[in-house]
Amino acid sequence: MKVLVIGGGAREHALAWKLAQSEQVDEVVVSPGNGGTAREPGCRNAAASSVPDWLALAQREDVDLTVVGPENPLADGLVDSFRAAGFPVVGPTRAAAQLESSKDFAKAFMTRHGIPTAAYATFTDAAAAHAYVDAQGAPIVVKADGLAAGKGVVVAQTAAEAHAAIDAMLAGNSLGSAGARVVIEGFLTGEEASFIVVAHGEQVVAFASSQDHKRLKDGDEGPNTGGMGAYSPAPVITVEMHQRVMDEVIRPALRGMVADGTPFTGFLYAGLMIGDDGRIGVLEFNCRMGDPETQPILMRYGGDFALLMLHAAHGTLHLADPDWDPRPALGVVLAAAGYPESPRKGDAIAGLPADNDNLHVFHAGTTLGDDDQLRTSGGRVLTVTALGNDLRDAARRAYAAADSIVFEGRQMRRDIGHRALDRR
Ligand code: AMP
Ligand code: GLY
Repeated sequence: MKVLVIGGGAREHALAWKLAQSEQVDEVVVSPGNGGTAREPGCRNAAASSVPDWLALAQREDVDLTVVGPENPLADGLVDSFRAAGFPVVGPTRAAAQLESSKDFAKAFMTRHGIPTAAYATFTDAAAAHAYVDAQGAPIVVKADGLAAGKGVVVAQTAAEAHAAIDAMLAGNSLGSAGARVVIEGFLTGEEASFIVVAHGEQVVAFASSQDHKRLKDGDEGPNTGGMGAYSPAPVITVEMHQRVMDEVIRPALRGMVADGTPFTGFLYAGLMIGDDGRIGVLEFNCRMGDPETQPILMRYGGDFALLMLHAAHGTLHLADPDWDPRPALGVVLAAAGYPESPRKGDAIAGLPADNDNLHVFHAGTTLGDDDQLRTSGGRVLTVTALGNDLRDAARRAYAAADSIVFEGRQMRRDIGHRALDRR
């Protein structure tokens, strides 16, 4: 079987790598892919960057299964187009993808279906938004309604910060149409975790839990990024908590989407805040796997991932037999100079370690030149991911490998996994 993976980040490299390991898979076409998927055994890149181009690619390559990595093609209706043309695909329709593409949609959905989340209000009018902040007080969280590539959330510790965020998004148009509507919600405290499932209607298979580190600098300081590292499992998701998240969040969400006439298919990612009192709060839904969470999660997947994806595409997830390695995995992101504001491109990358069963370097912003030289070509460049006997061992292996990789201006956090390690 031939599989198409849409996207070009480290998440998609991990998906392609895992799919290529299946005995059922002859070849994985990654579009657009990156320097890592260009030389991953069993994988090949193909250029395309719009829904019509991807559909033409699927037709030309006669692919049997498509797995979508990032959110933008989903919000653009890739799944609707592929289904209409008869191509099995893992991902939500444009209507279902609103769970991620509109924060207001997601909040209204959660309220309607009794899914725990912070109290909120939605505004297009700046004066009304300012008045709401004055009434609620700080800390408070201001979110752009639309997709803003991780830049749309301001966790305001003071009312002044919240007012400034409102002015920037609503009046200053700082995020374009994504910020023309804002959701303002209550500030939740606790420990964050990422809980990802693959679903088809009400059929669901949960993935191992994970936790990422969104800030650029050690100690969770500096600007927000797409994620600087992640590990799986997240200790805060105990066996009991896993069950509660399924009962209080995931199953009500899947039932709600069916009831609303927009059944969810594909990956559903709940960003959770687990309070010290054990209360669950949903911070956000994403309709894709996380990046970098996918990298450690898939290192731990022991089963045939292509088979799982076929079950997801065809609505036979009740037959799936997921298999997880009990060992933890941890991934460290190496980012380019200037990330996240203005990443520099073109720096030569050297010292990549050889991959083995317990270590894989997943590529994101890399290109492989005709001279076979790898160069940086984006903000997040690599995720160095290792399995270990325990989390400390996984961190040690990942960092030993990461330390061997050099490129000018490399940025890397030294403390990925610290919250889980400090717990012990
Ligand atoms: P989001 O993209 O909605 O997940 O928000 C990005 C980050 O902002 C989250 O990972 C949290 O660290 C933080 N955040 C979002 N919403 C809240 C909230 N209601 N309370 C506290 N922190 C939040
Ligand atoms: N790492 C966070 C995300 O993928 O949204």
